[in-house]
Amino acid sequence: MASNKSLLILPGDGIGPEAMGEVRRIVGWMEDNRAVSFDIDEDLVGGSSIDKHGIPITDEVVDKAQNVDAVLLGAVGGPKWDNLDFSIKPERGLLRLRKDLELFANLRPAVCFDALVDASSLKPELVSGLDIMIVRELTGGVYFGEPRGIEDLGNGIRRGVNTQVYTTPEIHRVARVAFELAKKRNNRVCSSEKANVMESGVLWREEVTKIGESEFPEVELSHMYADAAAMELVRKPKQFDVIVTDNLFGDILSDCAAMLTGSLGMLPSASLGDVDETGRRKALYEPVHGSAPDIAGQNIANPIATILSYAMALRYSFDMGEEADLVEGAVQKVLESGIRTGDIMATGMTQVSTTEMGDAIIREL
Ligand code: NAI
Ligand code: MG
Repeated sequence: MASNKSLLILPGDGIGPEAMGEVRRIVGWMEDNRAVSFDIDEDLVGGSSIDKHGIPITDEVVDKAQNVDAVLLGAVGGPKWDNLDFSIKPERGLLRLRKDLELFANLRPAVCFDALVDASSLKPELVSGLDIMIVRELTGGVYFGEPRGIEDLGNGIRRGVNTQVYTTPEIHRVARVAFELAKKRNNRVCSSEKANVMESGVLWREEVTKIGESEFPEVELSHMYADAAAMELVRKPKQFDVIVTDNLFGDILSDCAAMLTGSLGMLPSASLGDVDETGRRKALYEPVHGSAPDIAGQNIANPIATILSYAMALRYSFDMGEEADLVEGAVQKVLESGIRTGDIMATGMTQVSTTEMGDAIIREL
């Protein structure tokens, strides 16, 4: 079966290309065994783009990213580029992609694989079977609000200012993403803000409630102050299903939830934008971890976070939930069989390289 699904792969720097190599093999397996084909293009981002073009992403690559069904990114950055001016650092390539594609909803799943319950900072019974999806607003809020800056007030006193700002359309679109996800999961959304002390939180709560009542009456909506949510995440994480929250609280709550599941090398993410005239939603998939320069080039990195990011692309951009289940199931089985990369190694397990982990997952597929 021919198809015109298009995927742009940006391996980036450090362990990015190594992990992406294993994804390419799984993509190949899909083409051979599931009769799905992608138009795949591969290009440069981050330090590798700086080395070739002098800038962390070219207009041509941004243009490509605007016109594909999904972008899959490895990681960017490394010591080689640390001394560059902020405006041309590798990270700017990723920031430009997020901004130009207006990726306003950041999806951070926190899934605890049973084989890894011991890697969690919590007791196994608290995290076994954990499956949370945090939806973080990514393009608004206090990280972007005006006015901002550091002012000199005289007499040696300075004042730092950042402004939390949200408009109703910004709240509505991220709420819709959360409610739609909930419909495909367990029909539950918990919205989190600080409506007790922030007007922007009051607006957030009112508007999320409106969208829920008018467009998603079948989804159960609850509200929790962000500080309480942080406590509840580490006290009784399995009470949550989908959490929707703003940029700042989402940054903190998603990192907190991530650590419930163990290693950075296991965590995928998706960043979604608007649906265009053709019905296509802009989307970027990437592992949560960085380029891990300390272990780059040694064939020891864990490729699972990048592989699970590809599975998210299958599920959310290509409507291939069955294939996504296959990939996630294969990862789970490999972990159950005791195969581990160094970062998730435990006594009695078998330590393997990046490519051997890829071999094992493909064998399981
Ligand atoms: P990092 O996530 O690259 O590494 C943190 C630690 O976790 C390191 O010890 C690393 O070896 C380990 N680690 C990370 N991913 C792993 C994997 N898949 N398998 C095994 N071990 C893994 O974060 P760090 O060290 O703060 O940053 C390194 C570089 O990456 C910097 O240049 C930073 O700016 C960049 N970075 C890029 C991100 C991105 O592309 N989205 C995100 C975070 C950092
Ligand atoms: Mg963070």
